[in-house]
Amino acid sequence: MHPLLVGAILGPSLIPQPSHLTYLEGGFRGVPAVEFSGKFATRDQQWLKAVLANVLPITKHSADNIVFRIDPTIVGDEAYHLDVTPHNITLAASASKGLYWSLQTLRQLRQDNTIPCVSIQDAPAFAWRGVMLDEGRHFMGPKFVKHLLDIISLYKFNVLHWHLTDDQGWRIEIKSHPELTRVGAWRKEADGTRTGGFYTQDQVREMVAYAANRNVTIVPEIEMPGHSTAAIASDPYLTCTQAKIAVPSTWGVFGRVYCAGRESSYNFLDDVLGEVLNLFPSHYIHIGGDEVPKGDWHSCPDCQDRMKAEGLQNEEQLQTYFMGRIAGTLADHDRNAIGWDDIMKGGTQKDAVIQVWNDQKIPEQAITQGNRVILSPQSNCYLNTPPENLPLSAVYAYDPLAGISNPTMVLGCETTLWSENITTKNCLTMFLPRGLAMSEIFWNGAQHNFPAFQTRVNRHMAFMESAGIDYGSSDQNLVKYTVAPKLAQSSCRLTAALGLPRLELRYTLDGTAPKANSPTAVTSIDWPVGKTLRVAPFRNGRSMQDPVEFQTTKSLAYGSTITFQTLPLAPYTTAGPQGLTDGLLGTTNFHDGVWLGWEGLDLVATCDLGREQTIREVALHCLQEMRSWIMMPKSVRYETSSNGHDWQPLGEVDNTIQDTTEGWIVHWFTCRPNASISARYIRITAQTYGKLPAWHNGAGGDAWVFADEFAVR
Ligand code: ACM
Ligand code: ZN
Repeated sequence: MHPLLVGAILGPSLIPQPSHLTYLEGGFRGVPAVEFSGKFATRDQQWLKAVLANVLPITKHSADNIVFRIDPTIVGDEAYHLDVTPHNITLAASASKGLYWSLQTLRQLRQDNTIPCVSIQDAPAFAWRGVMLDEGRHFMGPKFVKHLLDIISLYKFNVLHWHLTDDQGWRIEIKSHPELTRVGAWRKEADGTRTGGFYTQDQVREMVAYAANRNVTIVPEIEMPGHSTAAIASDPYLTCTQAKIAVPSTWGVFGRVYCAGRESSYNFLDDVLGEVLNLFPSHYIHIGGDEVPKGDWHSCPDCQDRMKAEGLQNEEQLQTYFMGRIAGTLADHDRNAIGWDDIMKGGTQKDAVIQVWNDQKIPEQAITQGNRVILSPQSNCYLNTPPENLPLSAVYAYDPLAGISNPTMVLGCETTLWSENITTKNCLTMFLPRGLAMSEIFWNGAQHNFPAFQTRVNRHMAFMESAGIDYGSSDQNLVKYTVAPKLAQSSCRLTAALGLPRLELRYTLDGTAPKANSPTAVTSIDWPVGKTLRVAPFRNGRSMQDPVEFQTTKSLAYGSTITFQTLPLAPYTTAGPQGLTDGLLGTTNFHDGVWLGWEGLDLVATCDLGREQTIREVALHCLQEMRSWIMMPKSVRYETSSNGHDWQPLGEVDNTIQDTTEGWIVHWFTCRPNASISARYIRITAQTYGKLPAWHNGAGGDAWVFADEFAVR
């Protein structure tokens, strides 16, 4: 085959694809000497030389050379030309930024110590090519963030939008308000463990410098006035009600927000932003503004006084006033505010950059009002969405400028990694390979040949492997577990559908987290009822996801037949007639096939133990997930019988779980009669919670009863 075609077909797969790329005959194999041509700051020379040394070996004197050239005729400070011949490499750009990107292309070009001869002219379509990392929900730490910065700069992203504060955690040291990290950086999880963390100001400076060395600007986000529960937990006076609350360990939109009436809220934010501005040189500072419930403001005398004094008609306008004051403070320091598109609801926010995440129509609306925009529609750019629901093809279909009349108002684009379901373990498997599509679109604009891109991505995986970069599936979840009882064996079977080659399951039965040397299984694991299985997928010796736990319990009722007065409602029926006596407890995912559900009805079930047994304790295991309309039953009543016709009351257990509690809660409704009783049949009546109350977002709707197991001891 002609070498030119070999290069084009089998050569390295470059991402993002350079805008003009021609493969030429031959390759560069030498160890070059470095030359600089044109006007360079000494610091930039040192910087580029250090980056180059990580791409290929260099020497002081050589017949081959590599030339960095400042060429003022190349338009745009990120654009570059890269020419490789058998004995010379020339990197040209109008600024060091462009030269840095040319080195990232060179790094991807190099294969087996050879750089194919090429002629490349390349320039970005968008000036702002961002990745948003949410650390409010899960703290990731300096080591991971550095690794992520290495990766995003390899793919020519130039902004790390660092979401540092949210309801579940405050992640940045503020010296004038130490309570923010003493209290707000930590939360108690449902299982009682304390989790969290924060960056000291020294660490922040280190991250900012590390990013700058990689051509990446860190844009911090300090959320306000909503998504701020962690700060409010640190100082209740920040909120209208001044109610003392804990840092939450569940996800959602929370009602306690900064009071927009009291001057003290603004003073607090001035303190915080003052320190933030000293740490981050970024011209743009993100101030959040999304998903702000307005109920507290409506009933707060201070907020209402503020509205009167400022002539504001409604609470949306109060948010506009609030954001406007903060944006004004930033402007006083020559900085520019960015806010999520929600901030447009109360009117125009002059000079703010609007980050669009909602509707396709919003960018044009913002631009018409005179606002510049950053585009990150959740339908394409939210890589925290599992690949099963947002596959690579859908990400690649994103056309940022569709429907936009004035592209000069578009600063650029961002992809997000919201971290409700992301930790350091699975962050990269969620980000990649779909982040490669984002990289290519942000660098080149809309693309139209997905099959060709898919081929390049598949070939690029070898590069990621060699660079030690973890990635996940293009279109499937990394792993999908199903569990089923094996009653005859007194065991359970876990089956895993794996979304990536060379994944291996590692598991434990002793309650510890699986490690790289834990027992391994290919796609299924049988384990005895009574033990807890913990399992995680590993690749290259690294755990790719937090472990999932499957609990079991064994009792006299194990394997017994249950008859239901009314069958559970699909799809919460998978577990079948022995679902309550198969020993398997449900997971935190109530769609796991283990949980059985009844809508608007009592759960009435009769368990046949097969013969008379001595009973000391009976218990039904129930779930509450309030936001999903699943509520604890009001009470669970138990009756016994020896013949299945004549019933004696055994006892009734009232619910003790607060209905307002957020998140996933399980509870055994345990009943211990005063004396042990002999019976063959037990009738269970779990009384439905009934209609959802006025404070619930499903008010008036029917609550569900969920149960996964019935135990007799
Ligand atoms: C957002 O996703 N709430 C900006
Ligand atoms: Zn208030």
